[in-house]
Amino acid sequence: MDKLFSIIDSLSAGRTLTFEQFEHLAAHRSDEGARLLRERAAAVRDQIYGRDIFVRGLIEFSNVCRNDCLYCGIRRSDPSLQRYRLSETQIMDCVRSGYDLGFRTFVLQSGEDPSMDAGICDIVRQIKTEYPACAVTLSLGERDRGTYEAFHAAGADRYLLRHETATKEHYEKLHPAEMSFENRMRCLRDLRDLGFAVGAGFMVGAPYQTPADLARDFLFLQEFRPDMVGIGPFIPHKDTPFKDMPAGTLEDTLYCLSIIRLLLPDVLLPATTALGTIHPLGREMGFEHGANVIMPNLSPVTVRKQYQLYDGKICLNDDASQCSACLDLRLEKYGYRIVVDRGDRKRWKGGEDHV
Ligand code: SAM
Ligand code: FES
Repeated sequence: MDKLFSIIDSLSAGRTLTFEQFEHLAAHRSDEGARLLRERAAAVRDQIYGRDIFVRGLIEFSNVCRNDCLYCGIRRSDPSLQRYRLSETQIMDCVRSGYDLGFRTFVLQSGEDPSMDAGICDIVRQIKTEYPACAVTLSLGERDRGTYEAFHAAGADRYLLRHETATKEHYEKLHPAEMSFENRMRCLRDLRDLGFAVGAGFMVGAPYQTPADLARDFLFLQEFRPDMVGIGPFIPHKDTPFKDMPAGTLEDTLYCLSIIRLLLPDVLLPATTALGTIHPLGREMGFEHGANVIMPNLSPVTVRKQYQLYDGKICLNDDASQCSACLDLRLEKYGYRIVVDRGDRKRWKGGEDHV
């Protein structure tokens, strides 16, 4: 049997692969192999989550960032970018309008801006008091353990921190010298220890990424077993050092989504905005390849243009209700249903194979 097919069989039967197998998978994608992966990934997703899509309301509350990641459109070394911080009242207004639209999870995301940490704890407490049935996810970057502890004590349930790459040398090509691979991994372990549901992830087609790097990303996911995995294509931003680097492709991103669904069958897997940016039907195709989460933007339309991590980001002019209505309609066409629910991870104990 073709080696690719036998690796795909091992992945769907055993849910674990070796470094060499992952590397082969990453380096030798074929149309037939990708189709088989897609069918199996969608089948296992259907078995665990059905056609329900979990929705999270994303509030990008500040684009102030102390970091200088070479790929990112809100990195600190861009003097031309107008910076903003939403007030607590503005953030709560986004939450309230999101709640009325049916959102039961709110993701508070920003650049790495620790000056807002105390305010964020207040907001988390406020959301949990007003809407005890809702989940709060934070995506604020790296902090010391004590700060993560304070976020958790305030009531935050989940934390998204992409590992970006599981290869130290690759990490160092994507980040300035003052950022460290070890610290990123320490953060992920602390978050897990403290009781957060943790999301890791990476950019597909990130500059300098090789099949071996991708294989280490999959191995890392296999070992760390995050609750969520956020992946999307790398897309260059015109004001960053990577402005001339090629974007990640639709095909590679969809392929990685299917691999991750098979590797971690019950994982929460978003079809990201970046995927919707490189192709008008990217998110819909993401669901056809095993994704089960979508994160529409609830940020005020007035600040959306200032939170462009990459060029061409979609939905810059649609307010929260327009985005929700648009997504409902689009997903319905493909037989999916957006659910009003916290959308927690379901624990899957295994079972029949999904061939
Ligand atoms: N500051 C928080 C953090 O570092 O986790 C949250 C915001 S950060 C901008 C969110 C994610 O955006 C990053 O983890 C990165 O993977 C992604 N991202 C940044 N620049 C991107 C680009 N040019 N193309 C695609 N994704 C990008
Ligand atoms: Fe935002 Fe369609 S998803 S306008």
